[in-house]
Amino acid sequence: MDTVRLSRQPKILIFGPGWLGHKLAEYLHAELSPIDITDKPAVVALLDRVHPDVVVNAAGKTGKPNIDWCEDHKQETIQSNIVGPLVLLGACEPRGIRLVHLSSGCIFTGASPHTGGFMESDAPNPVSFYSWTKAYADEVLQKFPVLILRLRMPVDKEQNQRNLITKLAGYAKVINVENSITVVDDLLTATKTLIEQGATGIYNVANPGPVRHEEILVMYREIVDPAHVYELVGTEELYDLGLAKAGRSNCVLNTTKLKEAGVILPDARERIRECLLAYKRRLS
Ligand SMILES: NC(=O)c1ccc[n+]([C@@H]2O[C@H](COP(=O)([O-])OP(=O)(O)OC[C@H]3O[C@@H](n4cnc5c(N)ncnc54)[C@H](OP(=O)(O)O)[C@@H]3O)[C@@H](O)[C@H]2O)c1
Repeated sequence: MDTVRLSRQPKILIFGPGWLGHKLAEYLHAELSPIDITDKPAVVALLDRVHPDVVVNAAGKTGKPNIDWCEDHKQETIQSNIVGPLVLLGACEPRGIRLVHLSSGCIFTGASPHTGGFMESDAPNPVSFYSWTKAYADEVLQKFPVLILRLRMPVDKEQNQRNLITKLAGYAKVINVENSITVVDDLLTATKTLIEQGATGIYNVANPGPVRHEEILVMYREIVDPAHVYELVGTEELYDLGLAKAGRSNCVLNTTKLKEAGVILPDARERIRECLLAYKRRLS
């Protein structure tokens, strides 16, 4: 692993004023830019004005209301998820600015080739256009000293359409497959630590211990809403019922590399319970 440590707090600039961009900007005390990351002259002008040590790319087309949007908007998805990260790379590299890119564990699906989940070095097997664009960008960025963070099904204490808790609570029919999850507060601390270490390369940023959606919903009923009802369905039924169009990733990420970097994230179930307790307090 190449590492470049700074003797002072790094100046950080974040692109992508979405859910995670806002959270990262607040936590890292960083400027959050709304400019289009595919607009190279605008990106360059901003870098030359701000002179950041680190750029975090939290921009991307994630699909609203979900990744099915990306299947029907392939050009926009390519622009934001592939061209944009390459523009940032092209603007940051000659200026010696370190690039951090938010990627996704959704580039994998199904059983991993070995026990303990998909490792950073495993070949992606994306099942949707969205996840293919994320895998494609990783493929290029990993040839450079970029820090690539692969997160998975973010869980948070605040209600938000992108929070796995809010998503699951909003579904009448739920599949019950084992998945890794990333608690957003833990993503924030892991990102800060890896930036401070000057880490580069790919890191799976997930809480250890995969969970099934039903386990989360059982805790949701216990802590947030005992009246909540849902029905468990098989994965195929989601497509048969027209509830999903693009393939949905289900996978477990191996977190050994993160641990070896000294970033010890708490157990997923324990953290989901804490998030649900805080989620309940905020609702009431
Ligand atoms: N939340 C998740 O489930 C999850 C899981 C794994 C990885 N990630 C990754 O984490 C990153 C942030 O996700 P998020 O959950 O914060 O999603 P989000 O709320 O959709 O935020 C992404 C932001 O990027 C903006 N954007 C899109 N194209 C852009 C462009 N060309 N230039 C500048 N900004 C652009 C979006 O604006 P518009 O809304 O106007 O397009 C949105 O404000 C994404 O790269 C995503 O792939 C997210």
